[in-house]
Amino acid sequence: MTTTPNSSTPDRERYRLLDHGDGRRLESFGGIILDRPAPQAVGPQLTPDLWPEAFARFTRDETGGSWKRFHHIEEPWLVTVDDIRFELALSPQGQVGIFPEQLANWRWLRDVIAMADRELTLINAFGYTGGSTLAMLAALTPHPLSLCHLDGAKSAVATARRNTALNGRPDAPVRWIVDDVMTFLRREVKRNRRYDGIVLDPPAFGRGPDGKRWKLADDLPDLLKTAQELLSERPLFLLFSCHDSALKAADIRSELKRTFGAVRSLESLSLHIPGESGAALPAGLTMRILF
Ligand SMILES: C[S@@+](CC[C@H](N)C(=O)[O-])C[C@H]1O[C@@H](n2cnc3c(N)ncnc32)[C@H](O)[C@@H]1O
Repeated sequence: MTTTPNSSTPDRERYRLLDHGDGRRLESFGGIILDRPAPQAVGPQLTPDLWPEAFARFTRDETGGSWKRFHHIEEPWLVTVDDIRFELALSPQGQVGIFPEQLANWRWLRDVIAMADRELTLINAFGYTGGSTLAMLAALTPHPLSLCHLDGAKSAVATARRNTALNGRPDAPVRWIVDDVMTFLRREVKRNRRYDGIVLDPPAFGRGPDGKRWKLADDLPDLLKTAQELLSERPLFLLFSCHDSALKAADIRSELKRTFGAVRSLESLSLHIPGESGAALPAGLTMRILF
């Protein structure tokens, strides 16, 4: 996997992981260099001279964390990853509006959808600012797609809508839903709505819009069971990502097998971001089911 979008993308719009180590990551988001925590960056920093170039640094504390800014940042600003444009801004939680480790999954989604021989109804749950939604919309298919983008954070869904317009698709066939994932998915089951493709990218911990606590390690079986109930008669895929280091690939795999039974293929991969100063930065796991 490479995060270089394509050779025609100017440097001021590209994403680059410049260095990582000592529990931190140094990234350039279209020339805006940010220094953020990365517990998985266990080795030493390889290019210490670069770190003072950060425009802002995020540190965690008991109340969540905060940014310290060293240079003015004009917000929002834009980056392009694999021809998908994103609007970015510093969030109080230390995020910026994109998870670059999902790039390999965005490519996979595009390929799988492009090979489908029919109209598809798809859902992106925990959809954040729309990376997977935009990748699915970008698939080269002659068949119509209809999509549901679901996230508990109103601001994430608003950004996803703006990103869709930014990518030239303001009228894309997307239902934009702000809701707790489990509440909405269960309602969809009752309403008899079914999906040919499901994307699930849950955080390890989180909160729904009603303040309901989300903990992947506890909620995983219920999430997968509900996803299974939502599959259409001829489902195509399920894409699941996991950012909880407490959950092991083998356990997730057996939960997927238990829930979905025999499938055409079940692939597990580790997600990572290639670094410019050495090793790639690990960024969770992903499981891809083709039915
Ligand atoms: C890891 S991010 C998803 C990243 C996204 N798939 C991407 O590639 O850009 C997790 C998202 O889950 C949302 N979230 C967390 N708990 C939720 C819940 N209970 N219901 C709905 N959304 C939730 C957060 O608002 C956040 O946008």
